[in-house]
Amino acid sequence: MKVLLTGGAGYIGSHTTLALLRAGHDVFVVDNHRNSSPVVLDRVRALSGRDFGAAEIDICDAGALAACLAAFRPDCVIHFAGLKAVAESIPEAVEYYRVNVGGTISLLQAMDLAECRKLIFSSSATIYGTALPPPFAEDHPIAPSSPYGRTKAQVEQIVTDWVAAADHRGAVLLRYFNPVGADPSGQIGEDPRGIPNNLMPYVLQVVAGRREELLVFGDDYDTPDGSGERDYIHVVDLARGHIAALDYVMTTEASAAFNLGTGRGVTVREVLRTFEAATGCTVAHRIVGRRPGDVGSSVADVAKAARLLGWCAQETLADACLSGWNWQRRNPDGYGPHDR
Ligand code: NAD
Ligand code: WQD
Repeated sequence: MKVLLTGGAGYIGSHTTLALLRAGHDVFVVDNHRNSSPVVLDRVRALSGRDFGAAEIDICDAGALAACLAAFRPDCVIHFAGLKAVAESIPEAVEYYRVNVGGTISLLQAMDLAECRKLIFSSSATIYGTALPPPFAEDHPIAPSSPYGRTKAQVEQIVTDWVAAADHRGAVLLRYFNPVGADPSGQIGEDPRGIPNNLMPYVLQVVAGRREELLVFGDDYDTPDGSGERDYIHVVDLARGHIAALDYVMTTEASAAFNLGTGRGVTVREVLRTFEAATGCTVAHRIVGRRPGDVGSSVADVAKAARLLGWCAQETLADACLSGWNWQRRNPDGYGPHDR
């Protein structure tokens, strides 16, 4: 199958590009490298032993995107490109709507021109409201609490309306929980710019000596030990989830949402214990107050993905800790020096 990936040089996109190449698909990557390095693509080529095309294009550049899709003529597009930092999306709200919503609209128009009718979209568990307790099934109320989350909920709606607007279109909306870990080779991984927002990259930088200590945000949540509880999903499992979604989307003429998570909640303290046991490294940390906007617990109901995609997580959190540490150790500056 011919698959075009927007944002294919990013953290999840690069692992998915590798999985698609290994599964024998022909891929093309579109990325403007706003949050990634082109070096990633050469590492994916080396790991897979296969070549593939790539173009440095901004998805908001409708003309360039349309020309690219018209030339490659994909059977399916996997749409990762976008901005993803919850806190940044508050002061930068309009920019988030421009890129995430506006970029998706130019993508759908380019797909129409290229007669591509199948789309897999990177959505997020952050769209779920938290008035009702987890686990969150796909029909759980949608109530995002940040501009970032609202861009994801709006794109889900736009894609659903795009599918309904003409025959033979299909879409899968993948709601990722908390992606962690790296390819076991240590050649590709998460390379955040500046101070990491997320727990696992912060832990890795503390252990690597780049940050002094982890601040554990809150110990008074209604969770087994009071620290925040999340559903951490290995990025290699996520990549496999896209292969399963690709098989599914090619046979559907509807829009369907699926959670990609493990179904198991893990607290921050448990992450630290698992990391230390898996790697033998100590994570310096200190308990502080809650981070504004955080929820106590977010865990996926994964029954629908198992039933309809035939997919479930296989890797453990210990695997994710080890592979993440392997990536960090081998690449102390990520893909190269940039703004820290
Ligand atoms: P990432 O930032 O590593 O990857 C996104 C890629 O898109 C980057 O390579 C970036 O350069 C590219 N990009 C950004 N704006 C672009 C534009 N205008 N034109 C072309 N390319 C552009 O992020 P990721 O963690 O790999 O996430 C991928 C997708 O999954 C995003 O849509 C994100 O919102 C979603 N998601 C991520 C997480 C997570 O925690 N990582 C969780 C849920 C959902
Ligand atoms: C996990 C846990 C923190 C950092 C965010 C987005 C979500 C999705 C994934 C894109 C929480 C605690 C964290 C730290 C800590 N991304 N923590 N110290 O907040 O679940 O989700 O990323 O869609 O939309 O909101 O992930 O990794 O930031 O936090 O104690 O330095 O770790 O409080 O309990 P989160 P996270």
